Amino acid sequence: MKSKIIVALDVDNFDAAARLVTQLGDTVGMFKVGSQLFTRYGPRIIELIHAQGRQCFLDLKFHDIPNTVAKAVESAAALKVYMLTLHTAGGEEMLRAAAAVQPRPLLLGVTVLTSVAGDQQAEVLRRARLARETGLDGVVASAHEIVPLRKELGDKFVIVTPGIRPAGSDVGDQKRVMTPGEAVRVGASFLVIGRPIVADPDPAAAARRIGAEIGG
Ligand code: C5P
Repeated sequence: MKSKIIVALDVDNFDAAARLVTQLGDTVGMFKVGSQLFTRYGPRIIELIHAQGRQCFLDLKFHDIPNTVAKAVESAAALKVYMLTLHTAGGEEMLRAAAAVQPRPLLLGVTVLTSVAGDQQAEVLRRARLARETGLDGVVASAHEIVPLRKELGDKFVIVTPGIRPAGSDVGDQKRVMTPGEAVRVGASFLVIGRPIVADPDPAAAARRIGAEIGG
């Protein structure tokens, strides 16, 4: 993957998503499809991304009984998505069943949702360890958790980080933000960026600026 930038396609219609994928082209590495877009348009949206030669990160946060999650991973594999999310709260058996699917996309564990109140750092680390032990490839984590996670999980584990804001940009509803440069410096493998690119009048220029800041 050339670029560490993953653009969150947080738009509510197919044409807007298609425009973004075309405009951004190879200024970014991948596109994140979440439940809003996927529930409405299904695999068409993934086909659209692939038709432009781009990769897809399917962020549906699977959480169900082991057999059902394994089957969902198989379905995502058939769609040729590059990586997907599942909830580590689903437990060891569910995570192992997902990891056993072959061939499969990279699997990323969601540890603790940022909407959960209180200091969750110990729980984040515990669930990230569980993700690694059960054969997942990485986790989604806030930029402020990267340093302890890297220390705990080593260099190879994938850490995907949302809550990224270029210096001087609108923070919106994100509470604990970091600039793209800092996040990569402390060890993020990929940055998930939505509004700073998607809501910019010139998304490709915004992506190029961020790419230049993180060195590609
Ligand atoms: O627009 P913004 O850059 O805040 O978008 C970030 C993306 O990452 C959104 O799709 C959001 O749902 C997702 N995300 C997040 N915080 C998390 C997990 C996912 O912002 N803890």
